[in-house]
Amino acid sequence: MLLGVNLDHVATLRQARYALDPDNHNAEPCPVAAGHAAKAGGGDSLTIHVRADRRHMQDADALRIREEIDLPLNLEMGVTKEMLELALKIKPDFACLVPENREEVTTEGGLDVCARMHDVKATVSALRDAGIKVSLFIDPDEDQVGASAFCEAEMIELHTGCFANAQAKEVDLEVKRLIEAAEQGRTLGLQVNAGHGINYTNITRILEIPHLTELNIGHSIVSRAMMVGIQQAVHEMKAAMEPYKV
Ligand code: PXP
Repeated sequence: MLLGVNLDHVATLRQARYALDPDNHNAEPCPVAAGHAAKAGGGDSLTIHVRADRRHMQDADALRIREEIDLPLNLEMGVTKEMLELALKIKPDFACLVPENREEVTTEGGLDVCARMHDVKATVSALRDAGIKVSLFIDPDEDQVGASAFCEAEMIELHTGCFANAQAKEVDLEVKRLIEAAEQGRTLGLQVNAGHGINYTNITRILEIPHLTELNIGHSIVSRAMMVGIQQAVHEMKAAMEPYKV
C-alpha cells in the first residue's frame, strides 16, 4: 500500500505568519523542502489542496512542488471552473475532487457525487482528457461508489473521517462500511484509496480494509514531524502500513 503525504499543514504554519506576504524572504516553513523530506522518508506521492480561499497552499507552491520534486503529485480540488483551470496549468499526475465549504476547518464530508453528477462527470472528463487520473473523495456509501463509477473516475478515495471520529462499538460499524465500499469499488473496477483522520494509532484498523492502493495522510504526519522531523514521521507511518495485505 502506498503513502501519499499531504503537505497542506506545512503551508498552514507558514501562512499563520506570512499570509499577507508569502514571498517574504523570511517566510517558513517551505512546503517544497518538506516535500523533499517526505520523499526521503519513503513517501510514494505528495498531496496538496489549493483551496478557493488559499488558506494554506498557494498556486506558486503547487507549481514549484510539481517542478522540483520527482514524486507523483495528487492535487485535491473543488469542482469549480477556477480549480479546473489551475489543475490544467499544474498538470498533476492525479486530481482528487473534494467538496469545499469556506467555513469548514478541513474537508468535512465526502463529495456528493449523486447530487452533482453533471458537474462531476464534466470535470472528470476534462481532467482525463488532459492525461490526469481522477479520484473522487466520497463517503463509504453504496450510492456514492456507484455514482463515481458512472462518472468514469478511475479512483475513489474513501473518506475515513467518520471512522477516525468513532468511538467504542461505532468503530466496528465504520470499518464495516469502509470494507463494503472498498469491495464494491473493486467490483466496479475502481482503484480504491482512503484518507482523512488516519493516524499512527487508528492505522491498525485501516489495515483491515481490502483492496486499498494508497492512503493519503496529512495532519498526523505533520504533527509527528514537529517532534521527529518529516523524514522520520513519514518513515514511521510507512512502517505502520507495512503489514498490509490486500
Ligand atoms: N484526503 C482528502 C481528500 C483530504 O481532504 C484530506 C485533508 O486535507 C486528507 C486526505 C488528509 O487528511 P488528514 O490531514 O486528516 O490526514
